[in-house]
Amino acid sequence: MSEQATEVEPTQEKMMSPFLSRNPPPVIEDPYSVPIEDINVIDGRLFQQDIHWDHFKRLREEDPVHFNELPGIGRYWSLTKFEDIMFVDTNHELFSSASGIALGPKIGTDPDADELRFSNFIAMDQPKHDLQRSTVSGVVAPPNLAKMEVIIRERVCKILDSLPVGETFNWVDLVSIELTTQMLATLFDFPFEDRRMLTRWSDVATAPPGTGIVDTAEQRQKELLECLEYFTRLWNERATQEVPGTDLVSMLVHGENTKDMKPYEFLGNLILLIVGGNDTTRNSISAGVLALNQNPGEYDKLRANPSLIPNMVPEIIRWQTPLPYMRRTANQDVEIRGKQIKAGDQLLMWYVSGNRDEEAIDRPNDFIIDRPKARHHLSFGFGIHRCMGNRLAEMQLRIVWEEILKRFSKVEVVGEPQRLRSSFVRGITDLPVRVHPL
Ligand code: HEM
Repeated sequence: MSEQATEVEPTQEKMMSPFLSRNPPPVIEDPYSVPIEDINVIDGRLFQQDIHWDHFKRLREEDPVHFNELPGIGRYWSLTKFEDIMFVDTNHELFSSASGIALGPKIGTDPDADELRFSNFIAMDQPKHDLQRSTVSGVVAPPNLAKMEVIIRERVCKILDSLPVGETFNWVDLVSIELTTQMLATLFDFPFEDRRMLTRWSDVATAPPGTGIVDTAEQRQKELLECLEYFTRLWNERATQEVPGTDLVSMLVHGENTKDMKPYEFLGNLILLIVGGNDTTRNSISAGVLALNQNPGEYDKLRANPSLIPNMVPEIIRWQTPLPYMRRTANQDVEIRGKQIKAGDQLLMWYVSGNRDEEAIDRPNDFIIDRPKARHHLSFGFGIHRCMGNRLAEMQLRIVWEEILKRFSKVEVVGEPQRLRSSFVRGITDLPVRVHPL
């Protein structure tokens, strides 16, 4: 989650995705109108316009292991079936994460890009991965979650009670961002008044320069170094604690396997936790409101029976798929569905497509809050890299919905949602709503 597919600095033209260049090719609105080789689902505009569904449908039906090649990036395959994605995600010996988790230039082929890569355990193989993950995973273990539940509920209530009843406002800003940012501040024991810096760093870390968040790669680098400086101050303060705190920074400072991390590794792991706990949960909070408005029958079901919330939460996360794909790199030649993957090829596991695979999920395009086996989805990945924060994310969403139902008969969407131009983070940037008190 710490790196984005491509950089868009003009000087890096040679390694640039054409979809992010100044003159991108026209967007393919109807995937059935072009030869299948021309389909390239990495184009973030497909997600921005919410028109990626038929692209994936066609790939699942006609070419489920689909080849593309881009200058500077090389050969890559899009896997779109549930079963194939599971195969790659659970075979970490065949498929490595160490060269990055988003489509990008091969490590070693471009020094500028390498410099921007951060080292963290989502982009590591064994045994280092397990050592680093086990050092921080305690922060989201059940005893800590139980403690956090109380704080999260307090914060959710405060946020919901302060909403401007009778006015139209952006749900993303006043609820989704505010809440996930407060959560992050809690996780890191980060100075509360500076918490929006966390949101900013999360946005900067995942946005390619030139797409609205930062203008240049230098600006991105500078802001992320400010993040490192800030956290280094916190690191130094916490290094002197006699009784180590239970926040993430303290855990990294005192952890046997993390206490000697190099600055870039520290930054990499921070960014991983900031982005992991931020964008994804934020977009799931917004997506729930949108999904229920688009499916009024489901909203009625929910109002009639709030005990459906724990089942609805994973359905929202499947329906949204906040991270559409993760990348792996083949360690050796391997065949999948008759396609010859070569060592060094990149593979993109399109969770967003596997989650709509009718061979794995019943009525996959429908949003059904009482769906049986709702946790049977790919949004958290599988295997050794399966999302570390999945229970925390589900808990946050559960609390949000419990408290919404206590206050409002409806959170009504009153305008068109705006979406992020990215195929890596499936994000909602604006969701105009009005709330109707009970
Ligand atoms: C709905 C919310 C979330 C979604 C959809 C999500 C999704 C994902 C996905 C797809 C992966 C990679 C899985 C793979 O490669 O197999 C991942 C990894 C990870 N997530 Fe989440 N995530 C969410 C919330 C969180 C939260 C709240 C945290 C905060 C603690 C978090 C922390 C992490 C970490 C640390 C990893 C790396 C795990 C590893 O490499 O071992 N995530 N997440």
